[in-house]
Amino acid sequence: MGKLRYFLSAAAALATFSTASPVKTSSFHYDPPSKVEWEACDDHVRCANLSVPLDWNKPQGKQISIAMAMIPAANPEKRIGYLMVNPGGPGASSLNLINAGKEFLMSTPLHQYFDILGPGPRGTEGSTPVKCDPEPWNRRYPETPQTEAEFQEMLQVFHDRGESCVNQKDNDILYFVDTISVAKDLEAVRIALGDEKMNYIGFSYGTQLGAQYTELFPHNIRAIVLDGIMDHSRSGPDLWGPESNGYEVTVNQFFDWCAKNNTCALHKVKDLPAKFDSFIDRANNSPIPAPSCLNKTSEVYPCFENATGNEILRAFQTAVCFPYPETGSVGGWVGMSELLQQAMYKNDASAFSAVKYASNTGYDMSYAAIFCQDAPRSNWTSIDFKIKSDVGAVATPHTRGIGEVWYLDALCMNWPTPVRNPPRSLAPSFAGRNMSTPILLVNALYDPETPIQFALNVHRQLGDQNAHLVIRNGSGHTSYDHVGETHRAINKYLVSLDVPETGAMYED
Ligand SMILES: *[C@@H]1O[C@H](CO)[C@@H](O)[C@H](O)[C@H]1NC(C)=O
Ligand SMILES: *[C@@H]1O[C@H](CO)[C@@H](O)[C@H](O)[C@H]1NC(C)=O
Ligand SMILES: *[C@@H]1O[C@H](CO)[C@@H](O)[C@H](O)[C@H]1NC(C)=O
Ligand SMILES: *[C@@H]1O[C@H](CO)[C@@H](O)[C@H](O)[C@H]1NC(C)=O
Ligand SMILES: *[C@@H]1O[C@H](CO)[C@@H](O)[C@H](O)[C@H]1NC(C)=O
Ligand SMILES: *[C@@H]1O[C@H](CO)[C@@H](O)[C@H](O)[C@H]1NC(C)=O
Ligand SMILES: *[C@@H]1O[C@H](CO)[C@@H](O)[C@H](O)[C@H]1NC(C)=O
Repeated sequence: MGKLRYFLSAAAALATFSTASPVKTSSFHYDPPSKVEWEACDDHVRCANLSVPLDWNKPQGKQISIAMAMIPAANPEKRIGYLMVNPGGPGASSLNLINAGKEFLMSTPLHQYFDILGPGPRGTEGSTPVKCDPEPWNRRYPETPQTEAEFQEMLQVFHDRGESCVNQKDNDILYFVDTISVAKDLEAVRIALGDEKMNYIGFSYGTQLGAQYTELFPHNIRAIVLDGIMDHSRSGPDLWGPESNGYEVTVNQFFDWCAKNNTCALHKVKDLPAKFDSFIDRANNSPIPAPSCLNKTSEVYPCFENATGNEILRAFQTAVCFPYPETGSVGGWVGMSELLQQAMYKNDASAFSAVKYASNTGYDMSYAAIFCQDAPRSNWTSIDFKIKSDVGAVATPHTRGIGEVWYLDALCMNWPTPVRNPPRSLAPSFAGRNMSTPILLVNALYDPETPIQFALNVHRQLGDQNAHLVIRNGSGHTSYDHVGETHRAINKYLVSLDVPETGAMYED
């Protein structure tokens, strides 16, 4: 999610097979260092830090600090417990979700019943962030290498990105940011806050975290919602294929909407899909200027002074995540269509230009470090990349196979830390289980980052006695941020443990 910071609102980001035995759940032990002391840190928000072991296999070893932000329940008499939230990424800060999303969260019924809590995931802002030298993160590379030389140039940049983190001082966290460690941190937070049952809502990558928490600690759960489902049983082509397909079908929904709806800035453009394709070709031949990226007071600053077609396709994936006017940060597809018009017809692609890093911490660094500890070191060759481009051009002609998985697969090939949490099916762990209240899985039919195929597969891994899957008949990545039928069903589940039937289809 190249342009995540700009297009993303409070919630959401992405977000992987296998022969495995069930995961053992009995060995966890945590003694909270002391009582958690909350401090007021923003209007309505309280903050605290908690120490947890760097390495959960060495509980007495080095400790790290994770930050927590919390909005207390408005109605203490009706209070059910804590509701932990995770915004996804991976790499997004839960503190930002609570602070930036506070007005929205406080407008929901959940605010009456829950202390809404963002435990900062380890390795992200506020919670012992991963550190890297920004230089190689600000270097361009051939995104769709067509020759051995271009392929090697791409690998060199990604190698340098990994080394830029290895070379930082006091950066042990780099080796311990896998999702199992984060799930154990959630359990530590739950114990430190009084050992109440877990309530959780995870968006995008936060669904993988929630699923891995459920696998490890099934008996400590009251209610879990996974919104915008990541499938960690997949890797390589099995991850890339459905994800790029989800992006393509969502872009087609955008084109259809635009042709029908005069609030779209490109409504009058004849054959927008073909014009979009030639615009991407033009930008790949000669990058489109991004003047606001040089303007220090602009909200997109700092970013690259121009954007290539492939870079625009990366950013556009995040942009189509938010169709409704009140979701995302630019006014849904209406606002996004104006930005696309500006890029296509006014030679200004500022909104789609890639972020530049100015310090040694940042979203993309945490994102890479976490994802690559959960993903295999794939063996793509330069020939594979050439073939992937050809496959992408046929299977997904407008988006060309480009997107998060395209990037992450290449980035993780030579990532310097060991894989701690490789992709595998959850099925063996859930085979003999019967959860007292099934967890709730939610996905849109047209999701550009976590396609509906992922949700279907995760539901099959968990089994219907353990998880119910509901679907929103619409576009976008995650559903809770739009107040519609899906949002209301999630509230009802979390408050009343009213579990909708699998297969329920909501209109919005
Ligand atoms: C948490 O730790 C950070 C970094 O050490 C510090 O700046 C912050 O004030 C702490 N927050 C609280 C509530 O203690
Ligand atoms: C046009 O799109 C807007 C924004 O998504 C939506 O609110 C409106 O209902 C749509 N109008 C029609 C006629 O579909
Ligand atoms: C820089 O951005 C600010 C805020 O968007 C805007 O008001 C200003 O006109 C811009 N300056 C230039 C030179 O474009
Ligand atoms: C695009 O920006 C790069 C610097 O990032 C610059 O070297 C190149 O000349 C620019 N290209 C165009 C067409 O503006
Ligand atoms: C990549 O190749 C190595 C050596 O041939 C092999 O051990 C490894 O399993 C391969 N990884 C994948 C993901 O295929
Ligand atoms: C799960 O438990 C419920 C209630 O105890 C029971 O009705 C159901 O048959 C059980 N399902 C399985 C798959 O064991
Ligand atoms: C989804 O909504 C469209 C109209 O917006 C409708 O034509 C279609 O039948 C619906 N699909 C399902 C599976 O309900």
